[in-house]
Amino acid sequence: MTKVALIWGAAGGIGRALARKLRDEGWQVIGVSRQGDDLAGVADHAFAADVADPFAVQRAVLAAGQEVGEAHLFIYAAGDIAAEPAARMTPAAFRRILDANLLGAYNAVHHSLPLLAADAPLVFLGAVSERMRLPGLSAYAAAKAGLEAFAEALRKEERKRRVIVVRPGAVNTEFWQKVPFKMPGSALAPDALAEKVLAAVNAGQQGVLDL
Ligand SMILES: NC(=O)c1ccc[n+]([C@@H]2O[C@H](COP(=O)([O-])OP(=O)(O)OC[C@H]3O[C@@H](n4cnc5c(N)ncnc54)[C@H](OP(=O)(O)O)[C@@H]3O)[C@@H](O)[C@H]2O)c1
Repeated sequence: MTKVALIWGAAGGIGRALARKLRDEGWQVIGVSRQGDDLAGVADHAFAADVADPFAVQRAVLAAGQEVGEAHLFIYAAGDIAAEPAARMTPAAFRRILDANLLGAYNAVHHSLPLLAADAPLVFLGAVSERMRLPGLSAYAAAKAGLEAFAEALRKEERKRRVIVVRPGAVNTEFWQKVPFKMPGSALAPDALAEKVLAAVNAGQQGVLDL
């Protein structure tokens, strides 16, 4: 039986790398991105949804359900960041960061659960949130800390499945174009992170993983 992975944020640097690695390993990939049309060659089935829009998220899952019976792995790799002191950050920008990193994760998991096999792991891309409590990063730090709290409660609700929050260090993606910080020279290649994430999933790990 071909295993199916459902990846949210599949057009991002990390999402693409995960999709590539999974397909190399024989998985079928359902990719969801904001545009949907940027996933040619990335996913076997591609759908569009702004993760902040619960109806768009639900539509994408229903459409995915027309293509596959169920999915065996859920990955939430969407995310956004802005570096601006709270005094200057607009409400719209603050909300955008919370939407991409936290509310979108809820929307995606809430609507995806009916499509997921009973033991399908749920993987969320977090960050080392306590190290993000820096000037300018209030929205991002709050959203990633919230994501961890959300996942911890979800783990106690979804007892038959593993709920994993992956907290990478720096990864060399477009994400760094959104902040005025220099990417560390030690940043991982997205493919290297994808390999670590999938090795952890395959090894049966769960909980919060600093990779
Ligand atoms: N790169 C790093 O160093 C690093 C380190 C720690 C954690 N992370 C986390 O890893 C995850 C993936 O990051 P990445 O490096 O792959 O960044 P990326 O290349 O910027 O990818 C992020 C993806 O999320 C999508 N997205 C953002 N808001 C969305 C929305 N409202 N609806 C739908 N899609 C949305 C973006 O789509 P658009 O292009 O259309 O906006 C983009 O494709 C993020 O959660 C990030 O916080 C990254």
